[in-house]
Formats: sequence, C-alpha cells, structure tokens
Amino acid sequence: MTQDELKAMVGRAALDHVVAGAIVGVGTGSTVNKFIDALAGIQDRIAGAVSSSEASTARLKGLGIRVFDCNEVDEIAVYIDGADEIDGQGHMIKGGGAALTREKIVAAQSRRFVCIADESKLVGRLGAFPLPVEVVPMAARRIARQFAALGGEATLRLKDGRPLVTDNGQHILDVRGLAIADPLAFESEVNQWPGVVTVGVFAHQKAQVCLLGTPAGVRTLVF
Ligand code: 5RP
Repeated sequence: MTQDELKAMVGRAALDHVVAGAIVGVGTGSTVNKFIDALAGIQDRIAGAVSSSEASTARLKGLGIRVFDCNEVDEIAVYIDGADEIDGQGHMIKGGGAALTREKIVAAQSRRFVCIADESKLVGRLGAFPLPVEVVPMAARRIARQFAALGGEATLRLKDGRPLVTDNGQHILDVRGLAIADPLAFESEVNQWPGVVTVGVFAHQKAQVCLLGTPAGVRTLVF
C-alpha cells in the first residue's frame, strides 16, 4: 500500500468519529484532504465544519460543505487532524503545513481530538521532525537564539525564496536537533517566550484517539 492509500484509508475511517447533526472541526494537510473528500459524501448528516486554514476552507466550500467561523460556534464535538509526529501518549508535533495556530485554536475548542496518520508518524519520542514554531517576524532572531541555547537549530521557513507568511500574517521557524523529553513542560516553556505565536508541540491539546494507517488496516490507539 502506498502512503497515499494509507492516508485515504484513515481519512475514510475518521467518518465513524463524526457526530451526526453536529459541526466537525477540520484540520489541514494531505491526510485531512482525504478526510474532507470523504466527508463530502456524508455532508447531509452534519451541520457543517469549522476549519483550521484557508486551504481547508477552500476545499470544504468547493465540495459544498458549510464552513462556520470559530466565533459562531461554542463547542465542537470532534476535531479531525493529521500530525507530523505522534507519540504513545497522543502528544504531537504539528505545523508541517504552517497551519499550527488555527489548528491549536480549533483543537482547544473541541471536546475530542482524533488524529489521522499513516504509521510512519508514530514515534517513541517527539523531535526528529523539525519543530514548527509560528513567530512574530520582529522576534524571529531572538527566538532562534533561545532555541540555540536549548541545543536546537532554527531556520526561517521560505516559500519561493521569501519568508513564508502564514494565514495569520506571521513567519515560521523550523527547529532541528531538539530532544523533547517532556512535551507538556516544553510546550508551556516555549509558550512564555515573547513573540512566539504558537509552538508546534500539541501536548495540552493532545489527541484522545489516533487512527493509524498500516498495510494490515487501521490501527486505533486510545490515549
Ligand atoms: C499542518 C499539519 C498537518 O497535520 C501535518 O503537517 C501533517 O500533514 P500531512 O497529513 O500532509 O502529512 O500540522 O499544519
């Protein structure tokens, strides 16, 4: 099975976690795109979606799914999103698609986070994937020095040779070489640094369930 087929399999499996008649939280990325495509087939059974990025919003609307603003909705029953890494406790690294801030906002508003990923994303300890951190541009170099003090090497994410600008008008640092032994403590610490908008460790907003695509089928991890 290809990685794309594994992603499609977990995208379809996530439909079982969508609550009938409710609004579903929708993440961002290639795995979530498979979920959105599957969701289009049952759109008459949901009230609509809250989206975590302009890209997902465009895909949802393109398929006829109603998209609500976060502020129009009190609580979201379930949030479905991918991950760049997930550990055995449901902590994740996210932000490979630069949507981490809105992803964390929608996750925080949701009762349950269901992560969908192919099996390559399951790790023993977070940190091999470069950690995305959304930052206010004027603070980028100082934040990079703060990561260097922790042994991390931060680089500014570029797009077409220029700093990538997120949906929120900010920049992304990708930090290599970090050993994230305690994801909760690490997330809390980096959140305090002035100029950090969002750190891509999702420990406070961890997954409750992970649907992992394997060649033998969907493996369900409950945390
Ligand atoms: C986007 C994300 C994605 O969930 C993460 O990058 C995984 O993406 P993919 O499903 O394409 O592997 O955090 O900001």
